[in-house]
Amino acid sequence: VSLKSFNTFALPAVAHTLIRIEAPADVRRVVDHPEFGRAPKFILGGGSNIVLVRDVTACVLKIEIMGRRVLEQREDAIIVEAGAGESWHGLVAWTIEQGLPGLENLALIPGTVGAAPVQNIGAYGLELKDRFESLDAVDLVTGRTVTLDAQACRFGYRDSVFKQALAGKSVITRVRLRLPRPWQPMLGYVDLQRKMDETGIAEPDARQIFDWVCAVRRAKLPDPAVIGNAGSFFKNPVVTPEQCRDIIARDPHLVHYPMDDGNFKLAAGWLIDACGWKGKTVGGAGVYDRQALVLVNRGEARGAEVVTLARAIQESVYGRFGIRLEPEPVVVG
Ligand code: EPU
Repeated sequence: VSLKSFNTFALPAVAHTLIRIEAPADVRRVVDHPEFGRAPKFILGGGSNIVLVRDVTACVLKIEIMGRRVLEQREDAIIVEAGAGESWHGLVAWTIEQGLPGLENLALIPGTVGAAPVQNIGAYGLELKDRFESLDAVDLVTGRTVTLDAQACRFGYRDSVFKQALAGKSVITRVRLRLPRPWQPMLGYVDLQRKMDETGIAEPDARQIFDWVCAVRRAKLPDPAVIGNAGSFFKNPVVTPEQCRDIIARDPHLVHYPMDDGNFKLAAGWLIDACGWKGKTVGGAGVYDRQALVLVNRGEARGAEVVTLARAIQESVYGRFGIRLEPEPVVVG
């Protein structure tokens, strides 16, 4: 099975075995299967956070568990539940249509609901963990269903237990989100402040914020349906105040944000941009011309070319700033 249309980077690779998972029971069937039960597994959602470097010999489980519903209306929150195979953006749009605000800052993020907790998706001042209630997952060894709360998921910046100890070992089947009542807008991010200034709207509702986030993303980020990509290719690095001061002494324009713990988060896009990479092309891979943090497929890129470009960027950023950029998507193979 070709995986080209199953990864948003549109990289060529083949899966030897691909099994569609439409219900949690399908996972248990795979676990009990005489051949596939013990084979290594690769869990595929929307393929929006992977770089396929070679063919996948592991048994690919393509998650297509659907369904969305309001599970519970509590005084302090509304709980919404969705199948792991649902589109994340589809879920966000649906909640807004239902008059259930709270996810609007996470509009237009590519990928599935089941993948959202894996890397704790985040944008415009909000992370999935801020709206997370719990999830169901099936253990790929025992076939047992477990429910994990936020603590068990060990959410970090673009990180969770599903990228660490449970990587490839557990299939997320359903996710529950908590939309706090009363709703409070999250408008701290500079791009949203700009929209407020431009429009003169000081008290936007959730629909308005949803529309602004979609507009900002469309202006800055390539649509994977048109230009293959996996969003930000590197995480924004965290440095100590001393390191931050050192860099500013040489590069006064460094884009940096103070964190609660006293450290600083740096804009990786700015670092890459400062090294002159924006708009560059190497083989079939390139650096997006409107956001240097995003690597793109210029047409017929192979995964290896993307990785080569990423390494070259890492080296030049390290050479100039002494900072090691860490890739954000999972490199497969
Ligand atoms: N910048 C440049 N040149 C560039 C790119 C960025 O100078 O080419 C500077 C600008 O000053 C800009 C700042 O960097 O204001 C920050 O850029 P941006 O607002 O685009 O955000 P980001 O830090 O690059 C992060 C997330 C995005 C998320 C946005 C908005 C990571 C790795 N990325 O990007 O998430 O959408 O903030 O919250 O944390 C993703 O994870 O795939 C993703 C797209």
